[in-house]
Amino acid sequence: MPTMQHHFSLKNYNSFGIDVSAALYATPETIEELKGVLDQYDFTNLPYLVMGEGSNLLFKGDFEGLVLNPRMKGIELVEDESGQVVVRVGAAENWDSWVEYATRQGWFGLENLSLIPGSVGSAPVQNIGAYGVEMKDHFAWLEAWDLQQKLPVRLNGEDCRFDYRSSIFKTNARGRYIITHVAFRLNKQPQLQLNYGPVKEAFTKSRGATPMDLRNSIIKIRNQKLPDPGEFGNAGSFFKNPLVDRTIFKCIRVDYPEIPNFHDKENCVKIPAAWLIETAGWKGKRTGKVGTWPTQPLVIVNYGGVTGQEILDFSEQIRHDVDKKFGVYLEREVNVV
Ligand code: EPU
Repeated sequence: MPTMQHHFSLKNYNSFGIDVSAALYATPETIEELKGVLDQYDFTNLPYLVMGEGSNLLFKGDFEGLVLNPRMKGIELVEDESGQVVVRVGAAENWDSWVEYATRQGWFGLENLSLIPGSVGSAPVQNIGAYGVEMKDHFAWLEAWDLQQKLPVRLNGEDCRFDYRSSIFKTNARGRYIITHVAFRLNKQPQLQLNYGPVKEAFTKSRGATPMDLRNSIIKIRNQKLPDPGEFGNAGSFFKNPLVDRTIFKCIRVDYPEIPNFHDKENCVKIPAAWLIETAGWKGKRTGKVGTWPTQPLVIVNYGGVTGQEILDFSEQIRHDVDKKFGVYLEREVNVV
């Protein structure tokens, strides 16, 4: 039977490095152990939080309930067809180690998602994405414990309703499932995705590039632009890139003809939140020990000893100023607990 730890410090278990604790903390390594935890705790009436490596979370204070950290490990080849493989991966595997392993094995498609912090089990929750690729593009299915039916279930892509940084796990089924394994469909032949601006630039002169070259290039781009959470606590992009109505976009463009934008769904335009934040005067701005990263203002950084509430207050000021200046509401990407 897995033991639950009491008053467990989460300081080293959230990438913002916020000094908070969990009243209870459990790390089941198998479905049997998970069932053991479920038997010991009243999940229907008491607060609980399922977390992986804590790289997309902001704790406002101590968590007065159970933090459940599924520790299912393992990488298993489950289908090997002519051009593709399906690989089942334990939720607790580190995302980037998995991407590196897959690339070395000759299982391709995830290279653009290199160096994204977090665990495999968290990847479907916000449908992680970077440099023109989203996790959903290579998702096969996942296994989860359904707290409602009290059964293990298998969900396919349609069930998960993946969208830009979203899925049922963040919306109408929030808190219902504990993801234990994720399966990916990968290609045996490389199909490099080089369309995203900085990636395209890095590959203009290199012929015969391999998926490992692409992975290394992505790592270099990320290291140049984004803070290392090991050095400066952060949770990646704090806000999502907002989708705005085309008429609102046209109004903003009257005053800011240079506004970058991407066509999204019909009559909607995606505007980089980084541009809105920078233009509202928040790039590289620091208040005490919290600030936006100088080369990517969408990332909010803990410069040491800051509380979750201070980060939240800082982010609310950004949100307020962007709204006031452009009439655009920034939705948080990070989960606040
Ligand atoms: N920009 C500025 N000022 C800046 C930086 C960027 O105006 O200081 C504008 C530029 O117009 C630039 C555009 O923002 O072309 C996009 O910037 P970038 O390529 O850095 O990407 P992003 O939209 O800011 C998104 C993801 C990142 C992901 C990158 C690369 C979201 C919320 N964020 O950022 O994901 O790495 O694209 O694909 O969609 C994360 O989710 O934690 C994350 C880091």
